[in-house]
Amino acid sequence: MLKLVIWVFLLAFLFIMIWTYWFYLISGIISAFRTKWVPYVPSPNCYLKIIKQNVKLDKWKKIVDLGCGDGKALRFFEKEFWLIWDWYDLNHFSILFWKLLNSLFKSKNVNLSLDNFFNIDLKKYDYIYVYLLSETLASIEDWIFENMKDDAVIISSVFKFAKHEPSEIYKDHKGKTITLIYKK
Ligand SMILES: C[S@@+](CC[C@H](N)C(=O)[O-])C[C@H]1O[C@@H](n2cnc3c(N)ncnc32)[C@H](O)[C@@H]1O
Repeated sequence: MLKLVIWVFLLAFLFIMIWTYWFYLISGIISAFRTKWVPYVPSPNCYLKIIKQNVKLDKWKKIVDLGCGDGKALRFFEKEFWLIWDWYDLNHFSILFWKLLNSLFKSKNVNLSLDNFFNIDLKKYDYIYVYLLSETLASIEDWIFENMKDDAVIISSVFKFAKHEPSEIYKDHKGKTITLIYKK
């Protein structure tokens, strides 16, 4: 009997692993095409630490993360700055995974969408977080600066916009630029 239970458990585990792997792989390939090869890489803790140490943000304002991945940066902003947030991403795996976790943890300040961030109304947000490649930032630069609120603040991790100059730059202890703040 015990042998049977172990076998059932192992087969169920194997099935879930294979299913998850293929779902991750296929959704990764689809989203890579749709996002023009911007990879799903969560903001590293050391980047978020620099934001926490240097950037002043007002509580209860609204933030959006353009390409939220698994929502790591947004949970950081919620915890450290009490911001209310929306997230958008084209990666099915990350969205499905975090929808599940949000429902388990009953996260209230979350609006989660499997959508292209070009479809959102940027005027709703006081803060815009981006952790995207330079080429992607260059391609969305005009859209962001034309559509954001006049007093909105953009927080970019590591990568720069092509035409606009940051109003503040924060570096790590090795002198590498980590956080860039942009205003209109
Ligand atoms: C480097 S990850 C950053 C993840 C998250 N912002 C963070 O800092 O933890 C970039 C994410 O942007 C998403 N992405 C790229 N272009 C997008 C688009 N047009 N609409 C929605 N998501 C997009 C990708 O799927 C990827 O998950």
